[in-house]
Amino acid sequence: MKKLLIASALVATAGLAHAGGDAAAGEQKAAACNACHGVGGNSTIAANPILAGQHRSYLVQALNAYKNGTRTNPIMKGMAAGLSDQDIEDLAVYFASQDGLK
Ligand code: HEC
Repeated sequence: MKKLLIASALVATAGLAHAGGDAAAGEQKAAACNACHGVGGNSTIAANPILAGQHRSYLVQALNAYKNGTRTNPIMKGMAAGLSDQDIEDLAVYFASQDGLK
């Protein structure tokens, strides 16, 4: 019983703090994205969209679309294929929290 209470308290706290995504975890996972999208999602290469400051819900939607094939791009399909729902939430919260340079 005690373990159950601690577990539900942790879940409740995580939910309040990050609404499903964890920006710190997202920053770690974003190491795989930096080469193309720039550090913090501030891409300097026109072909690679700026992710910094983009809406969280848009990023979640875009990554799921690449993953399930409703949005087709060979590069991003490969990148999104290995992401779990949690990875997508973490990455979206992280990039949404970054300041865009635009
Ligand atoms: C090899 C280069 C490359 C890597 C690595 C890469 N991307 Fe992309 N990404 C692209 C390109 C090119 C596009 C534009 C594709 C298109 O036209 O749909 C894109 C598009 C996106 C979009 C849609 C943006 C928009 O404005 O609609 C998101 C979100 C995204 N990438 C997230 C990520 C994440 C998260 C990672 C790391 C897990 C990542 N990308 C890694 C090249 C890359």
